Amino acid sequence: MTTRVEIINDFLAINVKPGATIQDVVEASGSALPFGCRDGMCGTCAVDIVQGMEFLSGKTNKELVVLKEICFGTATPNTRLSCQMKIEKPNGVVRIKY
Ligand code: FES
Repeated sequence: MTTRVEIINDFLAINVKPGATIQDVVEASGSALPFGCRDGMCGTCAVDIVQGMEFLSGKTNKELVVLKEICFGTATPNTRLSCQMKIEKPNGVVRIKY
């Protein structure tokens, strides 16, 4: 039981089990998606979820603060921090664009 994660910019797709972080997916896939602090503080890893938000964990408090204060003006309701979100449900497709 996995969910397929597609990183549009890199033409990459990987099937992952619930509980995996997007950071795990990026590192396993060879994606060029950039990371900075890896701790929900800098906003470097901000991405847009094109499809499949319902298969991801909810926004963390750190994520909410960074999206409001650092990504202000560019963040949309579909903007997430890759280092903070996890695959939460199986049998889905999550499409990510950065
Ligand atoms: S890498 Fe800094 S917020 Fe994700």
